Amino acid sequence: MEQYIMKGGNPLVGEVYISGAKNAALGILAASIMTDEDVVIDNLPDVRDINVLLEAIAEIGASVERIDRHTVKINASGIKEVSVDDEFIRKIRASYYFIGALLGKYKSAEVPLPGGCNIGSRPIDQHLKGFRALGAKVEIVKGSVVAHAIDLVGSHIYLDVVSVGATINIMMAAALAEGQTILENVAKEPHVVDVANFLNSMGANIKGAGTDVIRIRGVSRLHGTEYSVIPDQIEAGTFMCAAAATRGDVMVRNVIPKHLEAISAKLAEIGCEVIEFDDAVRVVGKPRQRSTNIKTLPYPGFPTDMQPQMAVTLALAEGTSMVTESIFENRFKYVDELARMGGNIKVEGNVAVIDGVPGFTGAQVEAPDLRAGAALVIAGLAAEGYTVVDEIGYIQRGYESFEEKLQSLGAMIEKVDSDREARKFQLRVG
Ligand code: UD1
Repeated sequence: MEQYIMKGGNPLVGEVYISGAKNAALGILAASIMTDEDVVIDNLPDVRDINVLLEAIAEIGASVERIDRHTVKINASGIKEVSVDDEFIRKIRASYYFIGALLGKYKSAEVPLPGGCNIGSRPIDQHLKGFRALGAKVEIVKGSVVAHAIDLVGSHIYLDVVSVGATINIMMAAALAEGQTILENVAKEPHVVDVANFLNSMGANIKGAGTDVIRIRGVSRLHGTEYSVIPDQIEAGTFMCAAAATRGDVMVRNVIPKHLEAISAKLAEIGCEVIEFDDAVRVVGKPRQRSTNIKTLPYPGFPTDMQPQMAVTLALAEGTSMVTESIFENRFKYVDELARMGGNIKVEGNVAVIDGVPGFTGAQVEAPDLRAGAALVIAGLAAEGYTVVDEIGYIQRGYESFEEKLQSLGAMIEKVDSDREARKFQLRVG
């Protein structure tokens, strides 16, 4: 089984290029099946979740042509199947976007319910509420969402919880409904805006993405387009925290600094130097960093997907920090792993109380999920000695060339898949 092995204790120094946003790309790829014309999507991250979604798109009959590592051409005119295979749904949750995309285009979709996820219960009631409001009959039959409509008709929909997935999913279906849909209390995340921009580039009429209210005037058809995915806010934030935690100096390139404001502000608060450029952010860690408090919130609040990486950074700052997780209930599973490295964190309900320690020591730990896995790698790079992170399949779901990018910043890290390779690494780095 693949693992990361690393020898920590060195500051990360240099520059790193951020890939396309995974979560934007998942929505955009699903939406690309809503036209029969060619869609070319560029700046796709080469990560597992994206590759699985592309397989699922091919599986229902669309043609998927890889133009290069980050570019794909999709033509959905061959889709015969509005029923998506369970195998793909189990692998990635975001395949729920097929419900909105298929329902919009074919007025019919059959998609297995996404399974539970290890960051907590993740209901999709708001998605279904939206589809029903548009006039679809939606039932759960043998574990699948079965949605049909004679006609989808625009509606006024108020989301009870701010949900990225529900906002994107309903927006897709409403793009091809008759008349106007007003969607209130929506998510404002950069990837919501990116999917809206993508749909508009296909001829949709969506206004207000990025604010609390999205207005969608339905159109009868969407056409082909060429589109480039925005940079990944969370990948960028992860490298920013890696710079801070290792007291390094990293220029994070190919980013939209506005999307990183919540992260930049917190790093500045703890004493890091954060310098913004047009499309880059430089983070300079300081030997003495201070504690702060964080509460995860929908955008523009502090992203839940950055909570573990920031917590690891705070665990190496002076003083006591409080981290409140208000989006998902089970996002502190890395805390026990971090304790093996000397981290001092107590969790009470949805609050982690972090007593900063001067340093970590390397240990063998297990990635409990994607972002927590990345956080443990940051911890390992900051720790004295060797750290092994198991279950790195989670990390590969969302980070392109993670170890290579870290190596380019001077990190001593390698992906290995046997004890022998791990020993070889240790012999080599000494
Ligand atoms: C997306 C991101 C994920 C990120 C999360 C929050 C993708 C593929 N994933 O997940 O990385 O952590 O946003 O920024 O983009 N909820 C309901 N009912 C619903 C839908 C959601 O109660 O129908 C609740 C969830 O349990 C959660 C909150 O709303 O507490 C936010 O979830 P949501 O924004 O929907 O997350 P995802 O879209 O699944």
